[in-house]
Amino acid sequence: MSSPFYYLFFAPLLGCCLIASGEPLDEPLKPLPAVPQQNPLQVELGRRLFNEPRLSVNNSLSCASCHRLESGGADALAFSIGFNGAPLTINTPSVFNASLNFRQFWNGRADTLETQAHEVVQSPSEMGSHWEHVVQILTADPAYKSAFTQAYPDGVTMNNVQKALATYERTLISANSRFDQYLLGNTEILTIEEKYGYQRFKDYGCIACHQGVNIGGNMFQKFGVMGDYFQVRGNPTEADLGRYLVTKAEEDRNVFKVPSLRNVAVTAPYFHDGSAKTLEEAVDVMFKFQLGRKPSDKDKALIIKFLKTLTGEWGGKSL
Ligand code: HEC
Ligand code: HEC
Repeated sequence: MSSPFYYLFFAPLLGCCLIASGEPLDEPLKPLPAVPQQNPLQVELGRRLFNEPRLSVNNSLSCASCHRLESGGADALAFSIGFNGAPLTINTPSVFNASLNFRQFWNGRADTLETQAHEVVQSPSEMGSHWEHVVQILTADPAYKSAFTQAYPDGVTMNNVQKALATYERTLISANSRFDQYLLGNTEILTIEEKYGYQRFKDYGCIACHQGVNIGGNMFQKFGVMGDYFQVRGNPTEADLGRYLVTKAEEDRNVFKVPSLRNVAVTAPYFHDGSAKTLEEAVDVMFKFQLGRKPSDKDKALIIKFLKTLTGEWGGKSL
């Protein structure tokens, strides 16, 4: 019964029936997990802090100023504007699904969401504040003071601010994209062209780097594997050094965390330098500098159609 011949004969039949009955597909990309169960008081406190402009030194910016949930979890600028009115030097990534990335930041310098929050509040270009100052302000606000005491036994502390923010961020999962519904077994939901686009995404090797549950966010790669992207673009910046800034190792020059492609259709402009204004430009750059290939216009259009199926929902609406 278990001869290879038996398997060859029945496997295709099995495949057909599994799909027809709406079973999850066995694919290299995986649907987003459910939002984890967490203390609702901590989530709500984190939500308020995420929208709190007093986390910046001059009360000008909250996390949500740059990470707009109604704009895909980022903003539409190549470079967001910091608390002091000056543009930042690197593009703002989405906070949606960031909890699923193996590291935080383009160069992966933070291991956790808590460390990320630690840094951004004190960053001299982003929020420009100090933790002692933040803790002082929140302690002096009776509403925050009691919300903290209810959520955490030790009340308002730097660690608890960071924990609450991270707890909230873990709820920012953009579930229910059409592609995830497809992976979960609703194979009718994608058009034939979108399915071909996914096939091309795999065949050309985009999936070698953009993979897993976040379709990215689980490895570092050089930007410019098949050519010198930075020389062609011109005007090198410090941010272009990528992971080299963290490790000072020569092999990490121009190396970045592979970004997630979830919601990519609604998070233009693209790349750490915000240089690609459209998905089409970004995909061109990827073909040229990451794969060293030139696709047919047809294949490129199919891949873009596939990328548009990766837009998930938030608050019951498509992002
Ligand atoms: C002035 C705009 C701005 C503000 C305000 C801001 N961020 Fe960011 N955020 C950025 C930029 C730019 C990056 C990328 C920085 C880098 O990679 O070096 C980033 C990166 C992140 C990341 C990493 C995402 C990833 O995939 O690597 C998270 C998470 C995040 N921010 C959360 C927050 C939280 C929480 C706050 C508030 C405490 C906040 N941000 C405030 C602009 C901002
Ligand atoms: C060798 C690894 C690798 C391959 C192969 C690859 N990518 Fe990328 N991709 C990256 C890296 C690294 C970045 C981030 C570059 C940067 O901005 O520093 C990126 C960025 C992107 C972005 C921009 C995302 C954003 O939010 O800014 C898109 C879109 C993208 N890739 C699509 C594709 C497609 C489509 C393919 C196949 C045609 C592909 N990639 C192949 C590594 C790769």
